[in-house]
Amino acid sequence: MDNRIIELLEQQEGRYLSGEVLSQDLNISRTAVWKHIKKLEAMGYQIEASRRLGYRLLGKPSKLTMPELLDKLRGTSFVPSIKLLDSVDSTQNVAQRLAEEGAPEGTLVIAEQQTSGRGRMGRNWVSPSGKGVWMSMVLRPGIPLQFAPQLTLLAAVALCRALKSIAPLDIGIKWPNDLLIGGKKISGILLESTAEDERLRYVVAGIGISVNLEEADYPQELLEIATSLRIVLGRPVERSEVIAAFIVQFEQLYTVYHKEGFTPIRTLWEALAITLHKPARLTTPSGVVEGMPIGLDDRGALLVQCSDGSVVPVFSADISFPSANR
Ligand code: BTN
Repeated sequence: MDNRIIELLEQQEGRYLSGEVLSQDLNISRTAVWKHIKKLEAMGYQIEASRRLGYRLLGKPSKLTMPELLDKLRGTSFVPSIKLLDSVDSTQNVAQRLAEEGAPEGTLVIAEQQTSGRGRMGRNWVSPSGKGVWMSMVLRPGIPLQFAPQLTLLAAVALCRALKSIAPLDIGIKWPNDLLIGGKKISGILLESTAEDERLRYVVAGIGISVNLEEADYPQELLEIATSLRIVLGRPVERSEVIAAFIVQFEQLYTVYHKEGFTPIRTLWEALAITLHKPARLTTPSGVVEGMPIGLDDRGALLVQCSDGSVVPVFSADISFPSANR
């Protein structure tokens, strides 16, 4: 009922909608409409009421709300439940706990703020309140542990397609799964796996998207290398829309992956990658590899052609581009 009221008010684009029309559409009395309006106001919606003209929507809550999320996720059945938190150390920790307790695939943990958000390679992930999408999703892909990198790449393709579906962004993937706009990072993905007998028990896919951060939200050292949708587009973006766009894309690609394997995902990833065919330096856990990244192999490893002609598969590394300053 609340969702329908918001939908109807939104359709008016700031104009009034009479209590009479609302009560007819919802098939409830005008007093009941008024009670729902009061409830929506308590949830953070700004609604102006006029005896003569009815109601008009002036503003939406800056916080994510369950009704809004459920409404935006109506088109997908991938998410069986959502845990929406105000502040948490890391959504990864909560999702891992839920996964251990048997949470089904697609379970989503979203937080307004993370106090110890973590990134790849033990880095920190800046997660200020209400500004971004900080979420973790439980996956139970039932694949061998060695194929886990494929899911990282799949998530990057899904996120890239999702952001492109929201605005015509010139966005590309830096191996393995950073999304960059104009050379600056806009999102990061962290997959943490738990395996038994070389099979994945579950994976927690952590997604961080800098949606509405402003320059003042970044520590000085990140300003040069990070950006947000708001900075790039010059307008705020609804976080629930970003979440839903990602889930829709992820579900599609995950279905393809289960039916057809990694090959179609690899093709999509390579088409969106902006870091292939440029001389690179990869710092792996077992040493430095220098050469030309030329594509992915069947397992999801990055293939790097070295100066002696050999091709080395790299699964995990920090990548830099000495000549391109990226
Ligand atoms: C990276 O690029 O280094 C990966 C960043 C991943 C950040 C997300 S935010 C939600 C989830 N919770 C975390 O603590 N990290 C991931």
